[in-house]
Amino acid sequence: MRQAACVAGAWVLSGALPAVAAGKVQPYPRSLLVDAHGEPWRARKLKAGEAFLFNYPYTVSPVFLLAFGREIKPVELITEGKQRYASPAGVGPNKSIVAFSAICAHKLMYPTPAISFIGLRKGSRGESAQVIHCCGDNSRYDPLRGARVIGGPAPQPLAAVLLEWDAGSDQLWTLGVRGGEMFDAFFEKYAQKLEFETGSSRRQPSGRTVIVQPAASYSRQWRSCSV
Ligand code: FES
Repeated sequence: MRQAACVAGAWVLSGALPAVAAGKVQPYPRSLLVDAHGEPWRARKLKAGEAFLFNYPYTVSPVFLLAFGREIKPVELITEGKQRYASPAGVGPNKSIVAFSAICAHKLMYPTPAISFIGLRKGSRGESAQVIHCCGDNSRYDPLRGARVIGGPAPQPLAAVLLEWDAGSDQLWTLGVRGGEMFDAFFEKYAQKLEFETGSSRRQPSGRTVIVQPAASYSRQWRSCSV
């Protein structure tokens, strides 16, 4: 049986938020999550509260892959452009796996191979146990509630990446993106940097498979933030 987040306006298997229009899904390619050897990556490898990353829907646009010790239900959110949408429900054995773009919605800081200023960190009092925190200007997002903004200057939640999970094989696929995606601004802002680092500033779709890495190996240095 396959369990997916909401696709094309219909809640499928994984939960429902009837009062909220699901919102448009940007239909990027369906990609299978794999390990560094190209073998299908299994959802059971995810430990609650541990961050992994993969690049999607482009080869240089990072995404947090996260699991928590509880079911994650959709919540209603709104983009900076006033588009309402519902965050995807969690998938996987405990309906607790979610994925969000790791490009900060404020000034687009993102994890690179050298360093990351945005990551999963301990929440403060009154927050969820773990939050996504960008050290740039201290924007904080709640990954249990669709990566909505809970502090700092970010004008909208992190964009959500929709996932599909197959219970038989325990494999995961990406299905698209929902919410306020920042890819146009990202490629515009970092054109020269990407050209220097990768030899091209053009968008390369991530393809039929995407490699999942632990956060610790995705970036050599994870900057700690002081709030
Ligand atoms: S770039 Fe992330 S808070 Fe400013």
